[in-house]
Amino acid sequence: MSISITIDGKEIQTEEGETLINVAADNGVYIPSLCYMRGKPCLGTCRVCSVKVNGNVMASCTVPVADGMEVAVADPEVADMRKALVEINFSEGNHNCPSCEKSGRCELQAVGYEVEMMVSRFPYRFPVRTREHASEHIFLERDRCIFCQRCVEFIRDKATGQKIFTISERGTGAQIDIDEELANKMTPEQVTEAAEMCPVGCIIEKGLGYNDAMGKRKFDVKSLRQRTLEGEEV
Ligand code: SF4
Ligand code: SF4
Ligand code: FES
Repeated sequence: MSISITIDGKEIQTEEGETLINVAADNGVYIPSLCYMRGKPCLGTCRVCSVKVNGNVMASCTVPVADGMEVAVADPEVADMRKALVEINFSEGNHNCPSCEKSGRCELQAVGYEVEMMVSRFPYRFPVRTREHASEHIFLERDRCIFCQRCVEFIRDKATGQKIFTISERGTGAQIDIDEELANKMTPEQVTEAAEMCPVGCIIEKGLGYNDAMGKRKFDVKSLRQRTLEGEEV
């Protein structure tokens, strides 16, 4: 059913039940996001896509649009909430972009630019998490994991559907783990898919570190904002 909503005061015609973050992008409004991948089920783990819907703060990747909805994206209060959420991700891990294999291809870094983050307002935790090297084709740089759960939900053993990646423990002890046996059965394509799906430089394909030259990296060529507005899976 055709409906009408407003985003930052602009009237938009759309279809009932469409996901708000997609409707916004299709109408030229960029909403930062981290865990969401267009075309895949919403995970709702990062809340970086928060906007105001009829005055209430909601994660726009979790909201189906409804007639008469009033959405605020540019509202300074919610824009600052999104920025704070991005900053928390930097404070909660150890991120040294200039020496990171994912720099220029990293969604956290790219979103940091989009929300105009300079430095985190929160104290850095400097967590100590050991790297995981056991499987043949992947290593995990655990300090960079933002616990988005993309790998947990979307990268599965092809034969059994079992999870290959899991998050163990909770709170400050949480860390990403990999099932060595299942990981060693992953096809080369699946290994590449996992490394590319990870929005940060946590899942790294062994032997492939800095494989794109500066200036030719994913977000050097086209920004995250542009890719999102063009409806690409990023
Ligand atoms: S994972 Fe992203 S944000 Fe973290 S150090 Fe690497 S490039 Fe920077
Ligand atoms: S390893 Fe990457 S994809 Fe998996 S939960 Fe951590 S950040 Fe997300
Ligand atoms: S992008 Fe919406 S909750 Fe993460």
